[in-house]
Amino acid sequence: MRIHGLGRQIVLQDGTGGQPHPPVNLRGPQLKVRGDFQVSATVHRPAGQTASLYLYGEVPIVYDEWRQNRRGLRVAVSERELSLTVWDGRSAAPVADRTASVTSPATVTVTFERHGGDLALSAGDTRVAVPDPGIFDAGSVMFGVDAVPGAPDWTLAALEATARDGGVAVRDTPMTGQSTQPSDSLRGLAEATGRRLPIGAAMAAEPLVSDDGYRALAATQFSMLTTENALKPQFVHPGPDTYDFAEGDLLVDFAAANDMKVHAHTLVFGEANPRWMQQVALADRERVMTEHVRTVVGHYRGRVAEWDVVNEPLSPDDDGPDGGPGLREHLWQEAMGESYIDKAFTAAHAVDPEAKLYLNEFGAEADGPRWDALYALVVRLKGRGVPIDGVGFQSHIHEAGDHIDPAVLRSHIAALAELGLSARISEIDVYGESPRVQATQFAGVLGTCLSEPTCTSFSIWGITDRYGSTAEHDSYPLETGDELPWDQRLHPKPAVAALRDTLRTARR
Ligand code: XIL
Repeated sequence: MRIHGLGRQIVLQDGTGGQPHPPVNLRGPQLKVRGDFQVSATVHRPAGQTASLYLYGEVPIVYDEWRQNRRGLRVAVSERELSLTVWDGRSAAPVADRTASVTSPATVTVTFERHGGDLALSAGDTRVAVPDPGIFDAGSVMFGVDAVPGAPDWTLAALEATARDGGVAVRDTPMTGQSTQPSDSLRGLAEATGRRLPIGAAMAAEPLVSDDGYRALAATQFSMLTTENALKPQFVHPGPDTYDFAEGDLLVDFAAANDMKVHAHTLVFGEANPRWMQQVALADRERVMTEHVRTVVGHYRGRVAEWDVVNEPLSPDDDGPDGGPGLREHLWQEAMGESYIDKAFTAAHAVDPEAKLYLNEFGAEADGPRWDALYALVVRLKGRGVPIDGVGFQSHIHEAGDHIDPAVLRSHIAALAELGLSARISEIDVYGESPRVQATQFAGVLGTCLSEPTCTSFSIWGITDRYGSTAEHDSYPLETGDELPWDQRLHPKPAVAALRDTLRTARR
């Protein structure tokens, strides 16, 4: 297996930072381990390259601004060094980082072992060892690799696992989900309404493969999947000529296996852009943007039903000429003005004329300057013949002022319908409220969507608080939020019953 460095990093929302994000082989194979075991890797390493092999006891959880490293370790070999770095899941920093000098030949076999309470690494006569904080206690090992981008590729020539006094088995990553959905699941109830409204959730690849309970909820409750972070530019397009579709493909395949529609998020956005993209010269930005749109839409043509072509085009502040929000300033807007929106939709439509194309925005559920600005923008887009099919109302309810009035939201959906546009509830979540208020908000918005024939889907921004998007950045242990219908233990909150009741009431 040839290993090519992606140089994949995660930037912060403002575009700074850059936490390393080496790919995890989520699709397996993985090891099931009991007791002591060893893993040997034979590596051909060209000069100037560092070969890194990761063994994960728990896969990292990925947010669009940071990667929560959980239990796992890295084995690395370069010209002069052999190193073992261990993360125990209690801190972003490794608990151990041991290095030994070696003169490693171009082809070298490194052996990692868990043995007698230690984690040890050896190559030839050199050995480093650290006490094992229980990295593989959950009984599985998943693999990942990395390489220095720009340096010649290295080759993983052999990878061999052996039991020392326990058991080792190789198995594929469980992925497919469920073959049947209970009729009282959200999707089952929705299918029994005249509308057959798709009920969706934003999903991530890492918990789908590593958490059986999450996967079961994903497959049984939802008939639509939004790619939470996997198709944001910094994940899918880490280098000017490098695309990485692994996580996106996993999500799309999971959806297909479970008869779900895919709503892909997001092609053009002011955030979550890789460093190289932020540094593209003004004159080249249009070319880079349209190539990005064409390549990503082309890759998923026929497998993705809808796209967020442009996410959050409005400024978060009321800084426009008429006292409302102007266009959000970012790398694309700076280079092309408002026409970046036209160009992005036109490029996406040319590549996949069947896909439904959405513009997605927050804070436009209520009356006021944000809604006025959004409405005026889509009127202009329609006037210029831009191939836009609809508008996503994110519906993040994160403070009391965000509470959504169903009647007002309904009037906005109807106003868009007058323009020939669909609407969708794209990212609803309700943070910091009592379970009862949370339930009422979720149910009120679902009821609105069900009652408006041009509301094409109702999607929640996640499934469970265990992996919610409001988790504190970089906090160990993870400080999770409370915005989703299932709690951290995957138990349903009152919101689930309220959503079910709303669907039952809408049944024909
Ligand atoms: C969120 C992700 O869910 C988090 O993982 C990340 O840390 C921050 O971004 N509106 C959007 C989404 O359109 O892309 C955002 O996603 C939530 C707000």
